[in-house]
Amino acid sequence: MGVIRRIGVLTSGGDGPGMNPAIRAVVRTALEHGVTPVGIRRGYQGLIDNDVQEMNARSVGGIIQRGGTILGTARSPEFMTPRGRMEALRNLNENALDALVVIGGDGSLRGALELHRQGFAVVGVPASIDNDIYGTEMAIGVDTALNTLLRSIDMIKDTASSHRRAFLIETMGRDCGYLALMGGIAGGAEMVLLPEVPFTPEEVLRGLQNAYIKGKSHCIIVVAEGASHRAEELKAYLDQHREETGFETRVTILGHVQRGGSPSAFDRILATRLGVAAVEKLLAGERGVMVGLAHGEAVSVPLEEVAGQKKVLDMRLYEMARMLDK
Ligand code: F6P
Repeated sequence: MGVIRRIGVLTSGGDGPGMNPAIRAVVRTALEHGVTPVGIRRGYQGLIDNDVQEMNARSVGGIIQRGGTILGTARSPEFMTPRGRMEALRNLNENALDALVVIGGDGSLRGALELHRQGFAVVGVPASIDNDIYGTEMAIGVDTALNTLLRSIDMIKDTASSHRRAFLIETMGRDCGYLALMGGIAGGAEMVLLPEVPFTPEEVLRGLQNAYIKGKSHCIIVVAEGASHRAEELKAYLDQHREETGFETRVTILGHVQRGGSPSAFDRILATRLGVAAVEKLLAGERGVMVGLAHGEAVSVPLEEVAGQKKVLDMRLYEMARMLDK
């Protein structure tokens, strides 16, 4: 195994709060060990386009509180092709990079696995607001996105109660219901609609009726974007049955609002710990792993395992939410 003198770092896929503290941790840990950190812009696409630059302690000054990623990010269809990956490997060699830290979501970590399979030294750091990455209890960005969702639920509840309305609040999360479920629990929602639990619009109508009959002044329904029916579709159905719902219905789709903003304390600390661990594990000789959070510790999980397994939502929490939505 060769000595590591230069480590590349890139952020890839959807951005998320906490990517900057992770970059900062990687850069400064590398410097601490006498290794030159090299930033790659716009994820794997920047690697293919050879958009790289050496970094120093000052390049990552004043970024710990900033959302987004100073390196930029991209979803690169080109990197999905063997040709694209060959270009990427060529540029890794051209820039004399001995190892790479990939900060991103499940697609980005699958990309890291491909580089590992080609024999390149790579370590992944999980960052995605969806919290759908196997092998880590929390990914970087999740906590901030959840708090953004929660603030929105709290605020919408104020206006919902004043007008005696139902609100469908749609949250990001791709095919995973984590954000919707946790937001619903923390925000005391009347209903949470998750991709993991199929439902019909009729059931949502009955939920509204129940809330009305119980005398509630509002009905907050958190809808995951991957749920069997999207918020707008449900509103159209509920509007058609306005006479039976009790409540008038409005929709708020949070969308990319959840991807932005200053990272929470939790995300800054998680990103810092995982960024440090990624470099230390590379220097200790670990290859082809992701550093994840398990029982409060930064642990290594083989990228093969991360790519091959689906993270499962804890359905006991769903049952708990249902029990309490009285
Ligand atoms: O994976 C993060 C995420 O924000 C998902 O929640 C969402 O489905 C998707 O990315 C949106 O992607 P884009 O920013 O490319 O529209």
